[in-house]
Amino acid sequence: MKSLPLVPAAVAGAASLTFAVKVARTVLDRRYYEKQGVAFGRTYPFIGSETDVSGLIGRNKTRDYLYLDRPATDFVGSIRGFDIQLYAVNRPTTDILVNPAVTGKYIDRDTPALYSFGQLSPSAMTFQKITTEHFGDRKRNLGKGFEQTRISAISNRRAAELCGGFTDDAPLDMKRIAGDYTREVMGEFVWGQDAMTLTVSYKDHDGSTSQVPFMFALNETFTGLRFYSNRFWNRVHFPMATWPVTREARRLQYNIKQLQEHLAEVLQGTPGAGTVWEQVATGNGKLGIPLEITRDDLLTASIAGLDTVQNTILATLWYVLLPENAKWREQITSSSGDRKAELVEACVSETLRLSPPGSVINNKVIDDFDLEVEGRRYRLKTGTRVMPNIHALHAMYGAAFQPERFLQEEKGAEPYVMPFGKGRRSCPGRNLGMVMATNFVRQFLTDHPDAWIANTADKDVHFNNLSHSQLMVVTTGSCPVGHS
Ligand code: HEM
Repeated sequence: MKSLPLVPAAVAGAASLTFAVKVARTVLDRRYYEKQGVAFGRTYPFIGSETDVSGLIGRNKTRDYLYLDRPATDFVGSIRGFDIQLYAVNRPTTDILVNPAVTGKYIDRDTPALYSFGQLSPSAMTFQKITTEHFGDRKRNLGKGFEQTRISAISNRRAAELCGGFTDDAPLDMKRIAGDYTREVMGEFVWGQDAMTLTVSYKDHDGSTSQVPFMFALNETFTGLRFYSNRFWNRVHFPMATWPVTREARRLQYNIKQLQEHLAEVLQGTPGAGTVWEQVATGNGKLGIPLEITRDDLLTASIAGLDTVQNTILATLWYVLLPENAKWREQITSSSGDRKAELVEACVSETLRLSPPGSVINNKVIDDFDLEVEGRRYRLKTGTRVMPNIHALHAMYGAAFQPERFLQEEKGAEPYVMPFGKGRRSCPGRNLGMVMATNFVRQFLTDHPDAWIANTADKDVHFNNLSHSQLMVVTTGSCPVGHS
């Protein structure tokens, strides 16, 4: 009887020892990289930089904004849990990382996102290593379903319906409107119009359950998972985001189960002609890829263009409608045809430079390798997390909104940007995202050339996948401060 308390004491002792060993290893790893010239920000074992990151998220910025002001180094170092996380912050280092032919070694997927929206679609390619069986085939099959004329037709139709329907003089909540647009366009594009009428059981924040459209439940659950995984302790120890220890975690897991069961049933049916569902199910089916994987790739296709495109639209409208950028609004509204399309696309591209919605997805070194950047040598160890920092690369060109950088007639090279990543792991939905965003922005500015922003006085307005910023726009009357 007396020996019973020894058991918990022994377990606690072993856990503390493991923790101490891991902390010691992290400190040594950090020193290893510091000796090679890597500059570390304020970061501690286990807690990492998460206190500073919380401050940024509270101001509608993402973790990547921590690393904007160190142009003189190749890598900035940080700690995530017990791993070292290196961010490439200049072009030559990024070029090497995204092109494995240079070093002969891959870095490969290992991302905390698996504990976030990965709970919804764990087998999706987003979370898999490049060496996973059929990885390339799956990405190709998805790409075959991403037909540009079709997304253009669907998004143009939906943008015209939405933008032509505003009758109110009250400020429009553009976040809600852009959210409706992306959800409806992606839903129809991936699943077809018929599948969109189906409903699933959905648990709301207040705990009540109701039947709602599939894409609504999917969008809410996807966004909820990302925000939940960005709470402080879930960022410190990623698996905590999956523990059913809070009401929010249990609510999200209820909704995940409903969505997966719904799709298991839908996938027994016949896909509509021309849908992404048809292409992916046919292509994957021929290769004998299990239905569960097909389900997850289709889930990815359904969600990847929701928050990303919504925030691209909001950020572009924000920049173009700001009084100081009036010349761009005027050029767009006074032009037509190809010229108008070109101007809007340049504004979207410049917006993606200044406010990329997300980061590249985390990768890890899977085999030690050497890398040389303009004569400076680094040895990266297996297990080190490493990725380019999109924000740092883009910030080198300054904070001014200058879409002319992306216009043909402008002299000089286009800036080095990567809002969609680069290389084999880059975004397969890049063209779709651009088409959806430009079609909405063009339609909105055409229908409402005098629109003005009603919430310019808000603090910390930034648009990205973790932001709570609003965009309130009035389409009638004139702006109290004028826009020309
Ligand atoms: C403006 C809109 C979008 C932006 C800014 C964006 C950005 C990104 C970024 C930064 C990555 C990570 C790349 C990397 O780790 O190197 C990514 C991956 C991915 N995106 Fe997008 N994306 C957008 C729209 C879309 C759309 C519309 C789809 C599909 C319908 C899509 C599907 C994917 C997929 C499947 C991956 C994972 C690729 C892989 O793991 O190999 N994205 N995206």
